[in-house]
Amino acid sequence: MSLVDLDLVDHKAELPDDVRAFLHEAGRRIEQFQGEGRCPGFVPSNFERVHGALRTLKGGCLTRRFCEWGSGFGVVASLAAMLGFDACGIEIEEELVDAARRLAGDFDLSVQLVHGSFIPRQSATTLATGNGFDWLNTDRDTGLEALGIAPADFDVVFAYPWPDEQHMVASLFEEHAESGAVLLTYHGDEELRLRRKVERRRRGCSRRAAPH
Ligand SMILES: C[S@@+](CC[C@H](N)C(=O)[O-])C[C@H]1O[C@@H](n2cnc3c(N)ncnc32)[C@H](O)[C@@H]1O
Repeated sequence: MSLVDLDLVDHKAELPDDVRAFLHEAGRRIEQFQGEGRCPGFVPSNFERVHGALRTLKGGCLTRRFCEWGSGFGVVASLAAMLGFDACGIEIEEELVDAARRLAGDFDLSVQLVHGSFIPRQSATTLATGNGFDWLNTDRDTGLEALGIAPADFDVVFAYPWPDEQHMVASLFEEHAESGAVLLTYHGDEELRLRRKVERRRRGCSRRAAPH
């Protein structure tokens, strides 16, 4: 098994009014939360960029299962729900989970936001680095178990890892995701990366267009 990079076609389109209103309110609450100096490991991704990528990934599919690893304010999971994904998010900081649930609830969004760790209990992926991680909580936990689903049940996983977590997040995805699932990651400065888990890497055809 390996991960192959996919081209991510960026369809720039006007945000629908409901998405715009949701993001406006999310931004207001996040600014207030961060202004109070809470949960410094939480930094929001670029939600408009991620929304564009999710729209492309959803394409014409009726249902796709989506999970946000380290969901913070739950904004990306909520956007996925607005696009019709069967969406959930897992976050280790309880006060972020509470804030995310309040936000999603105020917009009547059907998204599961769970307190726990996205790191499955059984993982061969090494979580030890020479210096440890700056912000990642390495607890292995019950976030997914609380949902009653396995890590392999998702078609799309999104994460915004800190630089020292990027390799570990990709390894965890490669270890646990089903073949064909995709990992969408945000890396700051508007950079998004899309990878698919495949059975075997074929020489000369590693890049394919993003699914529609
Ligand atoms: C850089 S923030 C990204 C937040 C959100 N995904 C976004 O795009 O706005 C990373 C988040 O991962 C959370 N986190 C760190 N370790 C975690 C773990 N093991 N399980 C679940 N969440 C974790 C942090 O608390 C933080 O909210």
